[in-house]
Amino acid sequence: MNQTLKFPPGFLWGASTAAYQIEGGWNEDGRGVSIWDCFTHTPGKIADNTTGDVACDHYHRWQEDVEVMAELGLNAYRFSISWSRVLPTGYGKHNQAGLDFYSRLVDALLEKKITPLITLYHWDLPRGVQDAGSWLNRRAIDWFTEYSSLMYRTLGDRVKYWVTLNEPSVCANLGFNEGTHPPGARDKATSLQVFHHLLVAHGRAVRAGRAFIPDGKFGIAPVLMMTYPAADTPADREAAEEMWLDSNSYQLDPLLRGAYPEKIPTDKARADTFPTILPDDMELIKQPLDFLGVNHYFSFFLTRGSDGKPQFVRSEKVTAVSDLGWPVYPRGITDLLLRIKNEYVTVPIIITENGISLRDEIASDGKVHDPRRIAYIKGFITALQDAFSLGVDVRGYFHWSLMDNFEWAYGYGPRFGLSYTDYPTQRRIIKESGREYARIIAAGGI
Ligand code: FCB
Repeated sequence: MNQTLKFPPGFLWGASTAAYQIEGGWNEDGRGVSIWDCFTHTPGKIADNTTGDVACDHYHRWQEDVEVMAELGLNAYRFSISWSRVLPTGYGKHNQAGLDFYSRLVDALLEKKITPLITLYHWDLPRGVQDAGSWLNRRAIDWFTEYSSLMYRTLGDRVKYWVTLNEPSVCANLGFNEGTHPPGARDKATSLQVFHHLLVAHGRAVRAGRAFIPDGKFGIAPVLMMTYPAADTPADREAAEEMWLDSNSYQLDPLLRGAYPEKIPTDKARADTFPTILPDDMELIKQPLDFLGVNHYFSFFLTRGSDGKPQFVRSEKVTAVSDLGWPVYPRGITDLLLRIKNEYVTVPIIITENGISLRDEIASDGKVHDPRRIAYIKGFITALQDAFSLGVDVRGYFHWSLMDNFEWAYGYGPRFGLSYTDYPTQRRIIKESGREYARIIAAGGI
């Protein structure tokens, strides 16, 4: 590898969160109900039977959280809007108190010279849209455009970076195929149709955004992983390619080329599962992007399983495993970005999520020592600098997450934060990894 470059001034050094995972205040000041409220209020859906009713209480403690960001030296912050906080039923009459909340947050960020990057949809669909058929009903696309336009109108004078959707493939798959996220459906065909409609909604929202905010920067944040053959054999190489196609091409081809991959994994290609596509859909999906957000957590080493499908193998190259069992392989981000650069038109890249779950604890010295997260951050930022040195146009890195929060179906067990959330007291304690990240930011890299 060449000598790695550091990132230039103007590089976005940030952290990410999502509304349902941190806000709480679930029924305050006119907020409408979202599908995550319904899901978590149903016993047995969340590992530790918790909810996001209070979460990190960010709805009340946002000023303190902005202070934490400033202490970390962040110059950017990615957060999402709770759709039902601003449009309680999902469409129609807006809730001014909800809009004011985000407006105040944006002002506080700008005052600290922290660039806001807003995610419009991080999975918390209003119940009103769910009741009307969720993303299977194409009216959801209109309502999402209406909601996006409301946010552009409200914040577009101050917020330039917009992520339409967070991980549409995960939302479609876990919500409609695996059933572990709301609405808890289990049907492959439905999940692929939902995925398709999400992409159309993305296209519509980008198009609307350009009309409202001519100098806006619009992107999307798919989760992307690197796939490697476990051994250098034709069978393993094929397995790795199949997984690449299934997880990455299936998202990037429609977005960046305007077509689903020609070679589609068999379970997606079957006529009875392939989505219905209306004439203008693919054109809409392929909106020019100002950046591609990349959520990246792991790489997979693959072989051909006895059932014929690609199967994960524990590779000795994996340097660590998170407490959720996610394999850590920093080099994967370099290879992933290089392959994206080679296979698709070059779009600037912003790493919109990257992080590790650990069971952190407060030590007797009052600090939170998390050397495994420090190693993770250093490893990935170094690997990102490698990608940059090799010509990938990387513009920002957002660590997941600013603080420990509600980790969806897992509840509060996994901790991803740079700042520790002491849930009983809601005290924030910057972890040692947060301190290290602050040093890296101050130095402009590693
Ligand atoms: C991503 C989600 C984010 C968080 C991290 C750990 O898939 O976008 O909300 O749950 O994983």
